[in-house]
Amino acid sequence: MLYIGVDLGTSAVKLLLMDEKGTIHRVVSKEYPLFFPQPGWSEQRPEDWFSQTMAGLKELVADCDRSQVEGISFGGQMHGLVILDEKDQVIRPAILWNDGRTGEETDYLNQVIGKEKLSEYTGNIAFAGFTAPKLLWVKKHEPEHFAAIKKIMLPKDYLAYRLSGVHCTDVSDASGMLLFDVKNRCWSEEMCRICGVRMDQLAKVYESYEVVGTLLPQIAEELGLSENVKVIAGAGDNAAAAVGTGTVGDGKCNISLGTSGTIFISSREFCVDAHNALHAFAHADGSWHLMGCMLSAASCNKWWMDDILGTSDYAAEQAAIGGLGENHVFFLPYLMGERSPHNNPNARGTFIGMTMDTTRADMTQAVLEGVAFALRDSFEVAKSLGLKIEKTRICGGGAKSPLWRKIMANVLGIPVEQIESEEGPGLGGAILAAVGCGAFASVEEAAQKLVKAAGIEEPEAELAKKYEARYQQFKQIYPACRQLFDQIIFQD
Ligand code: XUL
Repeated sequence: MLYIGVDLGTSAVKLLLMDEKGTIHRVVSKEYPLFFPQPGWSEQRPEDWFSQTMAGLKELVADCDRSQVEGISFGGQMHGLVILDEKDQVIRPAILWNDGRTGEETDYLNQVIGKEKLSEYTGNIAFAGFTAPKLLWVKKHEPEHFAAIKKIMLPKDYLAYRLSGVHCTDVSDASGMLLFDVKNRCWSEEMCRICGVRMDQLAKVYESYEVVGTLLPQIAEELGLSENVKVIAGAGDNAAAAVGTGTVGDGKCNISLGTSGTIFISSREFCVDAHNALHAFAHADGSWHLMGCMLSAASCNKWWMDDILGTSDYAAEQAAIGGLGENHVFFLPYLMGERSPHNNPNARGTFIGMTMDTTRADMTQAVLEGVAFALRDSFEVAKSLGLKIEKTRICGGGAKSPLWRKIMANVLGIPVEQIESEEGPGLGGAILAAVGCGAFASVEEAAQKLVKAAGIEEPEAELAKKYEARYQQFKQIYPACRQLFDQIIFQD
């Protein structure tokens, strides 16, 4: 049998076709535009997601025995606000996970409603990218749009809706809305009241591996697939990536170096850190996880290469890098503000420490190292909770770079293990589809059987020591700049 995993990312949708043995038959990627209507704002058109997914699906199944396709599921960019009116039309472009416009609404929730209450209701506090502050923003700035809302959806759930006609979501993605009681895996009535949301506007919540429906007849016909192909709820892209890297069960760690950078720790029990610096979300395997999320990770390198250096040869730029652990240049990777652990949409990207002998390669190196140091900030929060993280897996576009993996292993001081497929969320989606179709008894069993490790980067004592010293310096830069960031933003 064949299973389709759809990874609805920020730069592209990546689709993957897998069989029940875990063999990947085909991977297809289709890009769509990302709009920054104002500095710090970030939007996409749900219609682009759907049309590119359909184009990708057609290519994906073009040469396979289509009667073998049994299920389809998703890993999707989290937190995005998609709103539909009573005619099922998208009311406005989706406001994405890395959009920082909701500073005021986030402050209102954290300071007026209060972090303790939010944490009690949802297991989390408000961050600018979460969905609830976006709803408050639409309510204040676009009241006519707010009044027209019939359905509230997350990005991948819009795809499920267009494919199956079912208004659904899953526990992992719902966790990032700040409308969801993560511990009890249900909507929070208190949060809905606070945000002026009605229960009938929200989707039915499923576990990530549950079947929500089947393909709509016209969709099945367009794709040349059976109307019996099952649509499985899927997961937020980080939970899906965790499934795709075997980060299921208790105390396992995965790092994703995609547009965002995340550190994800699986847990059989629900747990929250005292300051809610890490997100406490439901996992796609039926349990929970803690997660730190930086808003710009591989996207910092992409920005530096594509927009600033004007090159597409990333490997050549990285080949010129020498002297790991000795770079005198530092980079704060806050090109879209920062989520974990600083929770500051006003933070900005910053180079510091250049001299007349600084080279292009030093700057490139600083970008890669800055991302690793910023992930270490969240790693430190996890360690401070007493979590013993002895190794991590890694996925995402940035994980393809051997140099970046080496930097990561030495900055974190733990082994970093690669998986045969870097397509974390897409593979996770396909695995969830296989579980939903009954090919495996549980997500844990499927991940154990299907996910294969492919090499490990061990930290080197000497280099890890050098990076430890550099990290202690890096840690001082953000606090020194914080007030300045606020001044820069408010003078604009
Ligand atoms: C997680 C987050 C990002 C997006 C990226 O909280 O906001 O990782 O899911 O797609």
